[in-house]
Amino acid sequence: MDNLIRQCSYIAGQWMSGEQLFSVNTPANNQQIIQVYDAGVQGAIDAVEAAHAALSSWSKKTAQQRATLLKAWLELILTHQKDLARLLTLEQGKPLSEAEGEIQYAASFLEWFAEEGKRVYGDVIPQTIDNQRLMVIKQPVGVVSAITPWNFPSAMIMRKAAAALAAGCSFVVRPDPQTPLSALALAALAEQAGIPEGIFNVVVSEQAQAVGEVLTTHPKIAKFTFTGSTRVGKILMSQCSQSVKKVSMELGGNAPFIVFEDADIELAVKGAIQSKYRNAGQTCVCTNRIYVHNSVMAKFTELYVNAVNNLKLGDGLRENTNIGPVISPQAANRMQDIVDTSVGLGAKVAAGGKVSALGECYFEPTVLTDVTTEMPVASEEIFGPISPIIGFDDEDEVIASANSVEVGLAAYFYTESISRVWRVAEQLAFGMVGINETAISNAVAPFGGIKQSGFGREGSKYGLDDYLSIKYMCLGNI
Ligand code: SIN
Repeated sequence: MDNLIRQCSYIAGQWMSGEQLFSVNTPANNQQIIQVYDAGVQGAIDAVEAAHAALSSWSKKTAQQRATLLKAWLELILTHQKDLARLLTLEQGKPLSEAEGEIQYAASFLEWFAEEGKRVYGDVIPQTIDNQRLMVIKQPVGVVSAITPWNFPSAMIMRKAAAALAAGCSFVVRPDPQTPLSALALAALAEQAGIPEGIFNVVVSEQAQAVGEVLTTHPKIAKFTFTGSTRVGKILMSQCSQSVKKVSMELGGNAPFIVFEDADIELAVKGAIQSKYRNAGQTCVCTNRIYVHNSVMAKFTELYVNAVNNLKLGDGLRENTNIGPVISPQAANRMQDIVDTSVGLGAKVAAGGKVSALGECYFEPTVLTDVTTEMPVASEEIFGPISPIIGFDDEDEVIASANSVEVGLAAYFYTESISRVWRVAEQLAFGMVGINETAISNAVAPFGGIKQSGFGREGSKYGLDDYLSIKYMCLGNI
């Protein structure tokens, strides 16, 4: 693992230090793992300049040539997947098995987009004047800048970078400073794979605002992509408007999970546990609000609370841990506030409910019952291991409650009725809907939301569109 640990940003194919160092801590005990250099504003500017300088030769390569290099990078990531996963768990906290899954998930975007890049087809349009011919080609948009979050420190980078590079763009990313090591390890493997200098740049910095401003306003950047909160996304989007950059946004979620009276309850419990407690609930597509039909409430709650009580909270590097710490002591304190406020308003704690004796980042997997739609826990994005359970009696009522939020990323529901499957799926105002299933994320499917969850799609055949421009050519006088 040691040869993958870097302290410097990767800019223009060089490992660049800076004037200041900052600490990267592990949520496992909130102690420092290592210090890394802050590349700051100048690092961001240098990275954009490097990406711009490298763009022309990269975009002129054939898709096949780019695919060969992307696959070399993919092979190295797979070869080092165990080490990458350990590093990820160390800096982010998730259980090792989940970290291994994330590295494979990250790699799958390289595999997918290396191939999809070969299928960037244009069009020939039937002419309206007989001596003209009308054609459409798709071209790389240019330099892409990205800001990525701490919850998936590898996958959220690769989901963007693989598409950008396959399309013929160059790429500059600022990973979250709480988890820069995974990003730098990916850069070390990109270098080893022979990805040309300036094509994949990682700028590590704690100066969120100043570096964010460079990455959203620099005139040489054509497109900006962000995964993070809706609040920050709005600020970054408005900064991008000054130079009319192409923008894609993967913002906050608030996923409803609906258990209808005709659901397979055991299956629903399994799906809810998997979706709610993945990454300790720190996932944009995590189940946020559990709606259960009142006629099956007692059965669902009993099975669900039992399953939650069986989750093993602990250090992600320990065997058998299936829920790790949250990212920071502040995040754990926020969970405590959510529980205390809800209980103050009448909710009951059916499991967990407090910071664990294991340490200040460990919040017990928690279930709140007797939750009503008026409580903040039923409307706000929790981003942690708390399950609020809300009863309902009627299909229309629960659809209205599910849709009552300003965001629309993922939604889930469980039913054995085929007509309800179509009826409910069509009415849920979300970009992704899991039906009798919560494991919906993969490289071949379009990930993205509607409403204030953002726009643009990552993964799938649609995922390249955000990195391409359409050019129409009209040939006359033939
Ligand atoms: C996210 O939390 O934004 C990503 C989750 C996923 O890709 O499944």
